[in-house]
Amino acid sequence: MKISILTLFPNMFDGFLNESIIKRAISKGKVQIEIINFRDYSTSNNNQVDDTPYGGGAGMVLMCQPIFDCIESIKTDESLVVMLTPDGKKYNQTIAKEFLNIKHLILLCGHYEGFDERIKSIVDMQVSIGDYILTGGELPAMVISDSVIRLIDGVINKDSLLSESFEDNLYDYPVYTKPSNFRGLEVPDVLLSGDHKKINEWRIEKRINKTKYLNKE
Ligand code: ADE
Repeated sequence: MKISILTLFPNMFDGFLNESIIKRAISKGKVQIEIINFRDYSTSNNNQVDDTPYGGGAGMVLMCQPIFDCIESIKTDESLVVMLTPDGKKYNQTIAKEFLNIKHLILLCGHYEGFDERIKSIVDMQVSIGDYILTGGELPAMVISDSVIRLIDGVINKDSLLSESFEDNLYDYPVYTKPSNFRGLEVPDVLLSGDHKKINEWRIEKRINKTKYLNKE
């Protein structure tokens, strides 16, 4: 799988690409990530990428030309172009699994007041990571990349994926590690019992209860 991230702030991705599971996935060849500064595609003398809105109003609007040229030069038949915007479709684990099947994901990060509306005509999908406004699409691009990359075969332990939150529409069960008593806070007896049937039943019950409780809040 290849992910191309189109941004005006490539340095924001340095930490994301160079730590932990994402770094390992890249070095194992599980995913290829390219960060493209779409300012490089501007044909204006001063590499302009934004301008004031027609009709007046606050802020700057991302222009069509650099983004159209950038997308047109990297897009293939296997690409899905995703615009990151607060008014897009709400991202979730189901969409993460759909993106896993895409050979080439192009994530377009906005900034400032937003995109010229006509840019929407060359994207396949508009996605939001939640009902709040961020300063740009870079964090959403990292959120989406991270959630998809960890699903790629061989990136993390398969067992971890089986029982995690949102599988079977349930949250994950609570987990504990040593010591069994920390400052009087005890690990539930059942987990120390060695009885795997009971442990499984306990975990299922916890997943159901947690889901009911969290969905009530
Ligand atoms: N850009 C700014 N806020 C955003 C959000 N919540 N989701 C996706 N892109 C964004």
